[in-house]
Amino acid sequence: MDHFQLRNGVMHAEDIPLPRIAEEVGTPVYVYSRATLVRHARVFRDALSGVRNPHIAFAVKSNPNLAVLKVLSREGYGADVVSGGELTRALAADMKPEDIVFSGVGKTDAELLQGLEANIGQFNLESEEEGRELAAIAARAGKVARCALRVNPDVDARTHEKISTGKAENKFGVPIDRAVEIYSALAALPGMEMRGIAVHIGSQLSTLEPLETAFGKVGALITELRAAGQSVTHADLGGGLGVPYKAGEVLPSPAEYGAMVARVTADWDCALSFEPGRVIAGNAGILLTRVIRVKRSSNASPFVVVDAAMNDLARPAMYGAWHDIEAVEPTGSKSTSHIVGPICETGDTFAMNREMDTLESGDLAIFRTAGAYGATMASSYNSRGFVAEVLVDGDKYAVVADRLPPADIMGAERVPDWLE
Ligand code: LLP
Repeated sequence: MDHFQLRNGVMHAEDIPLPRIAEEVGTPVYVYSRATLVRHARVFRDALSGVRNPHIAFAVKSNPNLAVLKVLSREGYGADVVSGGELTRALAADMKPEDIVFSGVGKTDAELLQGLEANIGQFNLESEEEGRELAAIAARAGKVARCALRVNPDVDARTHEKISTGKAENKFGVPIDRAVEIYSALAALPGMEMRGIAVHIGSQLSTLEPLETAFGKVGALITELRAAGQSVTHADLGGGLGVPYKAGEVLPSPAEYGAMVARVTADWDCALSFEPGRVIAGNAGILLTRVIRVKRSSNASPFVVVDAAMNDLARPAMYGAWHDIEAVEPTGSKSTSHIVGPICETGDTFAMNREMDTLESGDLAIFRTAGAYGATMASSYNSRGFVAEVLVDGDKYAVVADRLPPADIMGAERVPDWLE
């Protein structure tokens, strides 16, 4: 359920008609709904009612906007961060340091130190090498690093190959069959408190079975670790729950996910944590765009050229992803079109031969399910700026990220005097 609905023939975000935002803020613009974010945050938490004291860390990478993080921090969410930049954002949004988990295969020494100095709750280690480096940094700084070891369970998440992370050939985690050895070695180092296992096999998962298989392997590993004399008090089950991108698509619900987790982990005797991103933010945002012109060059479908492009919403170009596209003021007329952006490559295509609302020059349209992995993946390719972001709350809205014009980006560049 989301709060982007037609009212009297005009698409609204909560109580705000989208044409008003287009007029006052311009297009393209990302629009987030606070009520939808809050609803998703609560549905996910309620789904875990069968788990004792779950810890939920929002995957900041999916939507790092400060206002979005603040909404979630007020819902009691912590953060899963993957860079010093994300850590800084989570803290700026008042997420408690102890509720922050630091994931990622390439944390630099500076980032590890930043995490230690901020006293974050947990580092999810992706390799033995990283653990040894962190132990040395912690010992030098007189700190203790609370850590989980991320394991690679060699399970096919059956999602897009670019967002699948749990196969042996992927760069993530340590091979699960070496986990006892690596965990024990790291636990013996000064500066380290090895307290658990982490796993995350991929994103936009459309079935629960791969997750259940992976969690089953983690359960067996926890038993093995304890038998080897190690203490295991925490398990981090990652994110990955998919969301519908097409009207009518059905995916496992948070409730089904929560029930599966409660069943599989019943005898683990561990504090569980979760790192959802897309399921919280995905359908809480849209990208609002205006049609620049409709280009009819042959008898084939027309090209509807919109002012949003692959630099603003990369998912279709990057993963061939589908986003529903709808007119903001639909006339009832439907036709088959190609929806493309202005960027000079064929990959800048959002939809081919799509049967959808007829769009004419000047019309407004929305890309749905753009709240996760939307603005955060933007670039300034073709010297386009970064789009603005807006948060709606009932009958009010605020610009929560200014549009960054191309001139400001150019302002960070220098021509050396030896080129003058
Ligand atoms: N935890 C870890 C360690 C992750 O790597 C990710 C996502 C998450 C949690 C959150 O997963 P979620 O609940 O959002 O599925 N840009 C891609 C998605 C990349 C996901 C990367 N990792 C896309 O647009 O589909």
